[in-house]
Amino acid sequence: MNTLAQLITKEMETAFNAAGYDAAYAKVTLSNRPDLCEYQCNGAMAAAKAYHKAPFMIAEDVVAHLQENTYFEQAEAVKPGFINLKLKPQFVAEFLQQMAEDEMLGVEKEKAPKTILIDYGGPNVAKPLHVGHLRSAIIGESVKRIMRYKGNQVTGDIHLGDWGYQMGLIITELEKRKPELPYFDENFTGEYPTEAPFTIGELEEIYPTASAYAKEHEEYREKALHATYLLQNGHRGFTAIWNHIMHVSVADLKKNYQNLNVEFDLWKGEADAQKYIPGMVEMLKEKGFAYLDEGALVVDVREEGDKKEVPPCMILKSDGAALYDTTDLATLVEREELYQPDEVIYVVDKRQELHFVQVFRCAKKTGIVRPETKLTFLGFGTMNGKDGKPFKTREGGVMRLENLIREIDEEMYKKIMDNRTVGEEEAQKTAQTVGLAAIKYGDLSNQASKDYVFDVDRFTSFEGNTGPYILYTIVRIKSILAKYKEEGKQTEGLYLRAAENEFEKALMLEIAKFNEMIDTVYEEIAPHKICAYIYDVANTFNKFYHETKILSESDEEKRAGYIALLALTKKVLTTCIDLLGFEAPERM
Ligand code: ARG
Repeated sequence: MNTLAQLITKEMETAFNAAGYDAAYAKVTLSNRPDLCEYQCNGAMAAAKAYHKAPFMIAEDVVAHLQENTYFEQAEAVKPGFINLKLKPQFVAEFLQQMAEDEMLGVEKEKAPKTILIDYGGPNVAKPLHVGHLRSAIIGESVKRIMRYKGNQVTGDIHLGDWGYQMGLIITELEKRKPELPYFDENFTGEYPTEAPFTIGELEEIYPTASAYAKEHEEYREKALHATYLLQNGHRGFTAIWNHIMHVSVADLKKNYQNLNVEFDLWKGEADAQKYIPGMVEMLKEKGFAYLDEGALVVDVREEGDKKEVPPCMILKSDGAALYDTTDLATLVEREELYQPDEVIYVVDKRQELHFVQVFRCAKKTGIVRPETKLTFLGFGTMNGKDGKPFKTREGGVMRLENLIREIDEEMYKKIMDNRTVGEEEAQKTAQTVGLAAIKYGDLSNQASKDYVFDVDRFTSFEGNTGPYILYTIVRIKSILAKYKEEGKQTEGLYLRAAENEFEKALMLEIAKFNEMIDTVYEEIAPHKICAYIYDVANTFNKFYHETKILSESDEEKRAGYIALLALTKKVLTTCIDLLGFEAPERM
């Protein structure tokens, strides 16, 4: 389905042609003076040069062909040469009717669907999830849903950090505590226990303890590094411990992500890429891309026109160890082999940008990915506390994700209980649903690349540009629709009617922007524009609601028209929040 702006532009093209001007000047945009008009065309200004004519005269010529038009209630030339347009309410109603009858609400699916892989989440196994991982999960999940909505074949991969030094630390600490375990007996040849020698609670305590201890004790650190090395080279006992760690952690991670309404299709990690490293290194050497630099194997990735120095990609350290660059390159080898993605999108902290510039350049230059493969880095900013510094607990430590969520949920619960519209048990559940919306909307309403301030009070407010405000609006609509149904009436299949007042028209015009908005969000990978849009929709809806008697309207046809508009508004809003990754409760 066309966007409203496209339809109007086509109509304007006809008028430009009829007036003897090139249709290329007919482009219509949303008005930036909503007090004067709804849409506007600035083409006469540009045409003035080509036709050696005053822009206002051109505008007048065009406007002369737009009188008694089925689209425009008003088409007016204003000095110096703008064409101001107001749409006929009937035309808008027909557009919305088409939208309502379309399953995709007027959005067109990608004609050539792409295979897209999204690398997001990226938690490090055995380390507790902290707020730093929150943004990747929230943004990545939304991007995944947006790409999918447009009809692409999308796979989300969590890309676990499961192969690093933290594993060596845990092994070392475990050996210190329970040296009698068979994993540390080099002569043990039997079957290792199937039960892990720790719970998730213990595991979460072991890592920080070991990490702190290693910083103070060089010998311990060396041991942990060596254990990492042995694990990465296939040590039998350590591999068994690694499997336990993975098992226990992944179960816990799954629970955590489920609470966030975040779902991964692939639970792969850095470890899975290791087997691709030897072949890749061989290829890089053979084709002459890799060379030795002070003992390390590197690939040069500088490009002409670089303003800043881009250091070479590090493939192997002088001791032969693989690095972060190596793993990400090998992961691309793996992805190419298993999925042949047209595009890989990385949702990672923007401070890692240089690393991805190096990896992308190296992968392209060496043919690890095909020339047409698109590699996209979606870097996000830092989540700060109210003091403008990276978010911390009141005690100054790193805030754990669970605690952060609990804090929001408790705040939400208090607010819901203040309203006292629902019972205790429902309030708990609702607090979680609304709390998640508060967190996600608070994050996604900012442009991803920007830092933002995590403000519990503001995010949980029912007023202003917040998740709870959006949900409150949806719940309000749901409740009106439910009351209408209680009269034994259907809310589906009703017809939208031409707006009769400015509030109704404003809402209809807002709803009509949906498909254009989605296309912009998709092209720019910009979920924050969904937030901006639904905030506008919620505001225009609430104005309409306060100015209009909906259920008590005595003209039955008019009443049905309102209900049709409400049903469509609800569908637009719920589709949008689903793309953002949260849902609305029935009541709140
Ligand atoms: N585990 C990494 C970290 O916590 C993020 C991984 C991002 N993805 C990637 N392919 N490198 O910083």
